[in-house]
Amino acid sequence: MRILVAYGSKRGATAGLAARVGEALAGRGFAVDVRAAADVSDADVPHYDAVVVGGALYMNLWHRHARGFVRRNATALRSRPVWFFSSGPLDGTARTSVIPPTRGVQRLMGLVGALGHVTFGGRLAGDARGFPASAMARNRSGDWRDPAHVRDWVEEIARWLNTRKPVGERLDDVSPPGARGLSLSSLALTAGALLGAVAASAGILLWEGAFPAPSPAPPVNTLLAEARGWSLVTLLVAPAAAIALAAARRGSLRGRLVWAGSMAYLVYTYLEFAVSGPFTPLFLVYVFTLALAVPALVVAAASVNVAALPRWFAGRTPRRLTAAVALLFAGGLAAAWLKRIVLRVASADFGWPDAYGSVGQVVHALDLGLLVPLGIAAGILLLQRRPAGYLIAAIWLVVALEMGAALTAMVAVSAVTTRQSLLAAAPFGVLPLVAGALGVAYFRAVRAPPPLASSPAERPEAPDPQAGVDVVPLPERRAQPALAADNGRMRG
Ligand SMILES: Cc1cc2nc3c(=O)[nH]c(=O)nc-3n(C[C@H](O)[C@H](O)[C@H](O)COP(=O)(O)O)c2cc1C
Repeated sequence: MRILVAYGSKRGATAGLAARVGEALAGRGFAVDVRAAADVSDADVPHYDAVVVGGALYMNLWHRHARGFVRRNATALRSRPVWFFSSGPLDGTARTSVIPPTRGVQRLMGLVGALGHVTFGGRLAGDARGFPASAMARNRSGDWRDPAHVRDWVEEIARWLNTRKPVGERLDDVSPPGARGLSLSSLALTAGALLGAVAASAGILLWEGAFPAPSPAPPVNTLLAEARGWSLVTLLVAPAAAIALAAARRGSLRGRLVWAGSMAYLVYTYLEFAVSGPFTPLFLVYVFTLALAVPALVVAAASVNVAALPRWFAGRTPRRLTAAVALLFAGGLAAAWLKRIVLRVASADFGWPDAYGSVGQVVHALDLGLLVPLGIAAGILLLQRRPAGYLIAAIWLVVALEMGAALTAMVAVSAVTTRQSLLAAAPFGVLPLVAGALGVAYFRAVRAPPPLASSPAERPEAPDPQAGVDVVPLPERRAQPALAADNGRMRG
């Protein structure tokens, strides 16, 4: 397996760290090229099976050659395992604590789905030239690069590379039948939540007492009608979620995403029924369903290898459109509810929710506390191409489709019961239609990344396989003392 270690370095410290990384990888049997990022041509990157990129930090910014390299080669990097390192603090903090990547580096990690990052200590020579380096050098010069730190980190990378399947199958771990197979408990939790949802829906549909009319009884029990409309859709969501779970078990990434989204739908639905519905024997069924749907949602989301998602959505994902719709929806919902809340506050309309007409307050709390943040997170993280954004947006799309359909059915059944025009439900139908169409495009974009060549012979135009580390010399202007001397100054 051939690995590229590319670095962006101004004064040679990061180049020295890159050489160390290369040496350690070569010592573990990999063929390694260590090269200045600016000297790597875009055509070279596809010849490597894995890439490590290192950048010196200046004013919290990664060296521009490292940034440029990642941006230029984002497409190729997305389909290979990639790790980043930064250098680094001019004190011992990199060794005594885990220093997270800077915001810019985090963004680049999201862009290419990097699997990991480490911050190594840095080095500043006492005779550093140029301002402000020379001023800093007066009291902060020294070498805090630690070879043991480098070795420990490379060990993690080597373990990752060695314990994966052959490189061509590596990316299957997003939806594997094997190591990441679904545990029996995750299946039991989901099955329990779905059974609870079916029981609650059947109870609401078949039993008048599920939503008893208040006293004095209104001409039409509209809350029962609404709950029945919603439950009709839940009866469709349950088998759809079961099919998604079965697909997830077979290793489908789409199955896992739809499964997670449907569990989120159940969480919202039964939280709302439990806290805003009337107290009946079905209350226990609502709470039972909620209690199982929450952990089922967690295990469904956790079954997805989030770091690899950008590579799976590298195709024609309607990323910007999905983000825009999620943000638009979240903003519209927040504005509508906040307007009502502000008006109530302004007119001093305070007090306890009353038993029958209290849905507004609970729904406002659930929407502003759950749905609006979900939409905002989906929109922002997807725009930033963060790995988690692809997962959250998928969950949002499924929730928007299923809840939009439930909302439409709720209004439609209520309209039929009160002998009003079905047209009242039409505006609500826009959300499931938009979410459905977007969802189809979004999920259709899921593609297994192109397999990597598992041996040099399979790689067209690949240079001859070559064991050991190949340190490409730094250009003249950045030339530093020889590698051995450089490393000799590192603290051991
Ligand atoms: C002007 C200046 C700004 C720096 N800013 C940061 C910084 O924001 N964060 C950090 O961790 N290190 C910072 N450093 C330390 C360098 O990142 C460290 O010296 C690094 O190892 C240099 O790498 P290079 O020799 O490959 O250019 C700064 C150093 C200088 C001279």
